Amino acid sequence: MLGASRMIGRYVIALVSLLVLHMRAEGAINVGITYVTEAVASGAVCLDGSPPAYHFSEGFGSGINNWLVHFQGGSWCQNVSSCISRRDTSLGSSAHMETAVTFHGLLNNEEEFNPDFYNWNRILVRYCDGGSYTGDVEAVDPVTNLHFRGARVFQAVMENLLSRGMKNAQNAIMSGCSAGGLTSILHCDKFKALLPSGARVKCLSDAGYFVNANDISGAPSIEEFYSQVVATHGSANNLPASCTSRMKPSLCFFPENVVEQIQTPIFFLNAAHDSWQIANILAPPDSDPSGVWHGCRTNIQNCTPEQLKIIQDFRMEFLTALRKASRFSPHNGMFIDGCFAHCQSDAQQTWFSAPVVGNATISRAVGDWYYDRNGFHKKIDCAYPCNPTCQNVS
Ligand SMILES: *[C@@H]1O[C@H](CO)[C@@H](O)[C@H](O)[C@H]1NC(C)=O
Ligand SMILES: *[C@@H]1O[C@H](CO)[C@@H](O)[C@H](O)[C@H]1NC(C)=O
Repeated sequence: MLGASRMIGRYVIALVSLLVLHMRAEGAINVGITYVTEAVASGAVCLDGSPPAYHFSEGFGSGINNWLVHFQGGSWCQNVSSCISRRDTSLGSSAHMETAVTFHGLLNNEEEFNPDFYNWNRILVRYCDGGSYTGDVEAVDPVTNLHFRGARVFQAVMENLLSRGMKNAQNAIMSGCSAGGLTSILHCDKFKALLPSGARVKCLSDAGYFVNANDISGAPSIEEFYSQVVATHGSANNLPASCTSRMKPSLCFFPENVVEQIQTPIFFLNAAHDSWQIANILAPPDSDPSGVWHGCRTNIQNCTPEQLKIIQDFRMEFLTALRKASRFSPHNGMFIDGCFAHCQSDAQQTWFSAPVVGNATISRAVGDWYYDRNGFHKKIDCAYPCNPTCQNVS
């Protein structure tokens, strides 16, 4: 008995030291949660009425006045029933969030793994409004207790960070992945306006360039979905006015309709065959009643030649929509790999090792663009499966 438990004990110790070694090898640290409790007074709350939250790893050395604010992703809830399903989860309530998370990729605190940003103040803002921080509805239905207040959450979190020292920022980046990557596009100029006028402020959108394309049945399902998001969250007044003055607000949820007016330099990191977009914009379950896309929509290796052809056409639609992000702004950067992926900046492997496009990793491409190093900052890869360094999700 004793021998067995001793062996189990040793086994556990070995496992734990392996884990610690592994974490050290990646230079990742655990970062505790901070609740922005003062936000509640201004009604800046998560879907369930709880305070917003973030994880904050303090800058050090030469990075002490540099700020990287990264917005977590997690899709959207577009109607009352889907928002109720989200309300009592970590994507709708800070009462349900893990109290610590590990910082990888662009949030990593070791120079060896994140040479340009490791010593910045690094913040991961937890996503809990379900509307990419655009919502603002005063009324709260006592039956559902749903709060649509994303825009107020954005403001309150920013005020909190400014008071913690971001008001003295010399360098700053607003970034985010997926729904957070869209946030960093929609709110980029707002972020810039909050920071000191002399600061170098830029935005980084990771997997946030969602395109307005029809699905495989020919239906405009993403356009319909976003129009429900905008209606449910009361988003119209918090989308870029330069867009809402020209077209209906729900179309201003699409980057292709807002990027030409963004004044702040912005970097678009995206897979050209974004795996979320293929599964949810191109081939959502409703567009495929017979289920022939079932295997392909989650793993590109399962796609038939006919399906791959449709995915390549989608890539061309994506690149056409992306052209608007490039045409008028020499200050923008991009890294559009030919991979099947979604969110590549906050995982260590994709951020720092591979994919490689035009000799650059993502970490290098973003760093060069941010600091205006090494010339040209727009890298567009060839189409799947040409790039052997891709980390295709399976
Ligand atoms: C609400 O959203 C869910 C999840 O996307 C969907 O299944 C449902 O049909 C929607 N309900 C209404 C009334 O539109
Ligand atoms: C990549 O690096 C190799 C070797 O240094 C060089 O010959 C090549 O021109 C580079 N390619 C690009 C696209 O920069």
